[in-house]
Amino acid sequence: MRKGVKRILITGGAGFIGSHVVRHFVLRYPEYEVYNLDALTYAGNLENIADIEKEKNYRFIKADIRDVGQINALFDRYRFDAVIHLAAESHVDRSIENPHVFLETNVLGTSHLLHAFHRIHQGDTGGKLFYQISTDEVYGSLPEGGCFSEQSPYQPRSPYAASKAAADHLVRAFGNTYALPYVISNCSNNYGPYQFPEKLIPLVINNIRLGKDIPVYGDGQQIRDWLYVKDHVDAIDRIFHSGRVGETYMIGGNNEQTNLDLVRMLCEITDEVLGREKGESLSLIKFVEDRKGHDRRYAVCTDKISKELNWSPATGFSSGLRKTVEWYLNHLPWLDRVTSGEYRNYYHNMYGNR
Ligand code: NAD
Ligand code: TYD
Repeated sequence: MRKGVKRILITGGAGFIGSHVVRHFVLRYPEYEVYNLDALTYAGNLENIADIEKEKNYRFIKADIRDVGQINALFDRYRFDAVIHLAAESHVDRSIENPHVFLETNVLGTSHLLHAFHRIHQGDTGGKLFYQISTDEVYGSLPEGGCFSEQSPYQPRSPYAASKAAADHLVRAFGNTYALPYVISNCSNNYGPYQFPEKLIPLVINNIRLGKDIPVYGDGQQIRDWLYVKDHVDAIDRIFHSGRVGETYMIGGNNEQTNLDLVRMLCEITDEVLGREKGESLSLIKFVEDRKGHDRRYAVCTDKISKELNWSPATGFSSGLRKTVEWYLNHLPWLDRVTSGEYRNYYHNMYGNR
């Protein structure tokens, strides 16, 4: 337990990573009161955390971080000791289509949270913490060789990355200006259960099972560093409890893959799990127009978190990928409800008009 902390606000807890973070904190730390604040945008799905809905130390709050009045009222009412901030618009392709909502949520929304947190704790910040969950994409695109470190310059190249970079800058600015206690971590690409199937890995698994084309952008030689989501959660736990205030920590899987290699692995594993002929789905791969401004390579140096917090990824890539494929194929009703849009009725069915 973190000294001075009883009430934790986790934002974005109905999304992919947030749902794993919420579950972890609720089950592992019954002494914390965990408040999950989420606007339930298209990416928020309360089914992702249905298993912990009834836990005594858990409470869901439907609220929008863009709404400053709502955020201020919630901080006045609950006086959260700590915030773990994950709520965001998170999909690069959507940010290329419509950057505006990325600025509203990722920049202004973060500013509302920072301001509300500062307002209720100014003068007495002992033990308090604002933890900003960010991405390696703020550092831009790497040439061959080298990896992003905590000292790398910010060079965001997509509207999504720029909005997350702006949010990180605001967090540091509040730390410097108002002595707001914060920590930031910048993580590489996550994969695992409950990821919205607009992102590469669940999209490919879903298309393979349906026999649909697998769209590979450009030449498929872009490189991403993949980390199993539960390893990210383990890193978040360590940073939350033992990270140094005012510091930044890089988190990554030490696992660089080209998109094309990854897609091929997914074809092989999925075919095997579905009992299809080995490599049958490779024919579904279709090279399509490249993403605009597509970052070529991300890679992360994890020396700091490894030395200071004794963290390293526990899940090997092939076993993590297999677990992930099996999870989606064992949760077809979840996939069907998400892809059909039916999941959006869940809140109404559970909570009515609240
Ligand atoms: P996600 O899109 O799956 O979930 C985002 C959640 O935020 C959803 O539940 C959504 O309803 C909620 N949300 C969006 N706008 C909101 C608003 N205005 N008010 C309140 N809630 C709102 O995202 P994710 O992949 O789980 O990412 C979570 C965080 O981790 C993000 O901040 C993202 O930048 C960061 N991150 C993600 C990755 C990754 O690979 N997915 C890697 C590094 C960092
Ligand atoms: P994505 O999962 O959107 O994550 P990010 O853009 O944040 O890294 O995409 C991962 C990589 O896969 C990225 O290089 C874009 C590529 N990609 C495809 O080739 N096809 C697709 O259909 C998608 C969604 C992504």
